[in-house]
Amino acid sequence: MNQQLNVYQRNGSKLGEIVDRQHLQIKREHEDLRKALLEGADLDRILEISTDLILTTLLHFESEERAIGDSVHGKLVAHRQLHTDLIESLKAISIDIEHRKLNGALELMKFFDGRLTYHLDVEDAEMERILAN
Ligand SMILES: [Fe+2]
Ligand SMILES: [Fe+2]
Repeated sequence: MNQQLNVYQRNGSKLGEIVDRQHLQIKREHEDLRKALLEGADLDRILEISTDLILTTLLHFESEERAIGDSVHGKLVAHRQLHTDLIESLKAISIDIEHRKLNGALELMKFFDGRLTYHLDVEDAEMERILAN
């Protein structure tokens, strides 16, 4: 077992709290985006919320990967790959957002309603179970 996993175990509840807090922040920004789109907010505001949501999510992936460390546990290696794939999708969407296209925000909303929520609720929960063991 590598050192980072040991650190996670010793501080398991603490890291769990950090991850939970970050998930709440992502979910809050996701709902902010939904509200802005439904209310027909300014494009500037919609783009700002979208950019925040992407950055918060990327930072969250970094936190999880620090917890995973250099583990060779198959499911943790697979989890890192899931992040890589999710980041590719987020990058593709952020091109439209950088070009100030409303469609980018709509795509981001769809992505969070489906794939990203599944990742946070199901795939991350599994990762946390493995790290806490
Ligand atoms: Fe997570
Ligand atoms: Fe994750």
